[in-house]
Amino acid sequence: MKTMKLWGGRFSKTTDSAVDDFNSSIRFDARLYRQDINGSIAHCAMLGKQGIIPQADADLIIKTLGGILADIEKGKIAFSVSAEDIHMNIETLLIERIGDVGKRLHTGRSRNDQVALDLRLYLRDACEKIGSDIKALQTALLDLAEANIAVIMPGYTHLQKAQPILFAHHLMAYYDMLERDAGRLSECITRMNISPLGSGALAGTTYDLDRDYVAAQLGMKGVTTNSLDGVADRDFAIETCFVMSMIMMHISRFSEEIILWSSNEFSFIELDDAYSTGSSIMPQKKNPDIAELARGKTGRVYGDLIALLTVMKGLPLAYNKDMQEDKEQVFDAIDTVAMTLPVFTQMLATMRVNAKSMRSGAAGGFTNATDAADYLVKKGLAFRDAHKVIGEMVAYCIKEQRPIENLTMQEFKLFSPLFDEAVFTAISLEACVNMRNVKGGTATGQVLSRIADIKKKQ
Ligand code: ARG
Repeated sequence: MKTMKLWGGRFSKTTDSAVDDFNSSIRFDARLYRQDINGSIAHCAMLGKQGIIPQADADLIIKTLGGILADIEKGKIAFSVSAEDIHMNIETLLIERIGDVGKRLHTGRSRNDQVALDLRLYLRDACEKIGSDIKALQTALLDLAEANIAVIMPGYTHLQKAQPILFAHHLMAYYDMLERDAGRLSECITRMNISPLGSGALAGTTYDLDRDYVAAQLGMKGVTTNSLDGVADRDFAIETCFVMSMIMMHISRFSEEIILWSSNEFSFIELDDAYSTGSSIMPQKKNPDIAELARGKTGRVYGDLIALLTVMKGLPLAYNKDMQEDKEQVFDAIDTVAMTLPVFTQMLATMRVNAKSMRSGAAGGFTNATDAADYLVKKGLAFRDAHKVIGEMVAYCIKEQRPIENLTMQEFKLFSPLFDEAVFTAISLEACVNMRNVKGGTATGQVLSRIADIKKKQ
């Protein structure tokens, strides 16, 4: 059905229906209904307070908007494509319900500052929820680290065994990455939680608006200081996509490890049946689909970021309709992260840790070679010389197909007279781990003290 547009005054024809479809954003911006109504209520309360519209009109508008909100939430409202977007759908409903009084709501406001406000409010709330999902993942990591504090695994560089580390240390590396993600998220929220309302279409408005009052009503921490900037930038949405990309990048690396660790070759972990899937043809299969999907979905979130950066890169100030293309991208980015984090967390919390495989993995591949070199250094040899001695020893061990710790004392002495019996304890897995007692190192005491520090601050 064709309705007269709220902006239809200067037009003599109705819009072509293909244009309505092309132009309309209601199918993806309908989700902003609550923010749009709350923003309108705050704006209207201010218009009444400032005497810009009669208080009785403001009261009626606010009451009616509350009713519209309730009806939307009860599923009673069907939005219309010809009303274009959520802002005009709601305003149209308001005018349908209370006639001329409803027409006063848009005083001193433009859809340009309205949409910028709504998106800021929506993303603020969505980012806060994602912040709590990150916290939950961090808590799961802490619990896993504590429960497995004695588990030693091989640490890798170049995916080649490097040095033994605590599994807990590995987990806590992700804790720290997520801590920075949470920090980025909260800084992003701080920057976006500023009201652009009052910017009008681009130049501000002629009315005596109380912008700070509106911002305070909406829990925002201030107002934008340039009306062009207030309506023209979407850096807050782009920054949200960037933070989502960074979170997904971390989740994706972790996913890659989960996939490797659950392979038969590694067997470091076993995913719970409830968090893995089978194959339609191979009866023996148990696949780490969650981790694979999390890794795969990272690509689309990066895509959202690049798409949004590209939409914005050539736009002259101030508002351009291109900016309507911001929503699907940023919504996709936050939806993807919001869906990924909780299921990823549960997958970790329910997986079984195979301490024996991790330990035997750590025991192979000469992961104690650095410690053997360090042992000689502590006896007075220069590190480069010690490195060479142990290199020759490793070459010998490879030929012999024996690990360093299985050489006899006589064999040790062939390589350096500085070796004595104490070398055997010095190159044990436990010693390799616990000698790395530098702040931030993998020694059990260090990992435990990091966990204790975190818990103290909670
Ligand atoms: N649906 C539009 C958007 O998402 C709202 C703002 C439209 N403003 C305008 N002047 N046409 O960007």
